[in-house]
Amino acid sequence: MSSQPGSHEDMSEEKFPERTSGHEGTVAVTDGPFADPGLPPHEPRRQDIDEQAAKRSERTVALLFTISMLATVGFIASYVALPIDKIVYIFPFGHVSALNFALGLTLGLALFCIGAGAVHWARTLMSDEEMPQERHPIEAEPEVKAQVLADFRQGAKESQFGRRKLIRNTMFGALAMVPLSGLVLLRDLGPLPEDKLRHTAWRKGLELMNMNTNQPLRPEDIQVGSLTFAQPQGFSEDDPNYQTELAKAALMLVRLHPQDIKDKRELDWSHDGIVAFSKICTHVGCPISLYEQQTHHVLCPCHQSTFDLSDGGRVIFGPAGHALPQLQIGVNAQGNLEALGDFTEPVGPSFWERG
Ligand code: FES
Repeated sequence: MSSQPGSHEDMSEEKFPERTSGHEGTVAVTDGPFADPGLPPHEPRRQDIDEQAAKRSERTVALLFTISMLATVGFIASYVALPIDKIVYIFPFGHVSALNFALGLTLGLALFCIGAGAVHWARTLMSDEEMPQERHPIEAEPEVKAQVLADFRQGAKESQFGRRKLIRNTMFGALAMVPLSGLVLLRDLGPLPEDKLRHTAWRKGLELMNMNTNQPLRPEDIQVGSLTFAQPQGFSEDDPNYQTELAKAALMLVRLHPQDIKDKRELDWSHDGIVAFSKICTHVGCPISLYEQQTHHVLCPCHQSTFDLSDGGRVIFGPAGHALPQLQIGVNAQGNLEALGDFTEPVGPSFWERG
């Protein structure tokens, strides 16, 4: 069967026009319905033939990189100097945060100038000669690799990276300084906790207040078998730090028969069988709230850590790694329960591993 013009057989490989290399690296198709015009001849730019123009371009690029560096310095200065709550009017945005506006403007300018400098450098000074790249097998032959290396070196030479030291140095400066913007943002992580995690609001002489009524607790208020929660005298829900302080100082009280207390220090730190322990679980800090009066065990509802209040708050089950801290208590002249100091160890979770 003979093939018809335009049929599939017409598109067989031997009917395609052959490509031949033209002069000076261009490729032209010598025959076929869609003639490949090849690459246009390279036209030198002004900077290629006029060293003064090339110098001007170099200075422009260097200026852009320098502006980027200054903008980064401006970013850091704004971050340090501008108050976080200062509002300014800026047309056409209206009332905006001065700090946010300054940070956005300076960081944007720093990044833009690096990009603009790189583009201007590429467009005016780096080689712009186009050349076809023949497709080749993925596994390159050693000669090809050598050629690539030679091309790379040639490209590096044509980019004038080594020769235009002003551009190179300012670019390195701009790229090195931009990450500093991110470094100063670490300040937003807030102040270091210092020794705040080591102390609670408890101190000698503070009365134990019933957490529900905020009234002083007396020994007769604590019955055997009951679980009572307490907070330090002077705590007020109106205090902005109330929750933070309560999260460390929350206390639970139980009354045991003194003969049931197995730990000698616990007995010494109790008053007439009343013992006071931190309410904050030493696993990950849930408030403990379940008391089993027969065994004197308290249970954390989060992951079931269980502590023995008759044995120094020791962990008897669960993931908690440390006993509950105990608060030493006594009775003041008014007959109210009072603290005889702060906890002698940090309360709560994870702190232990930090030493
Ligand atoms: S927080 Fe108490 S057991 Fe996990």
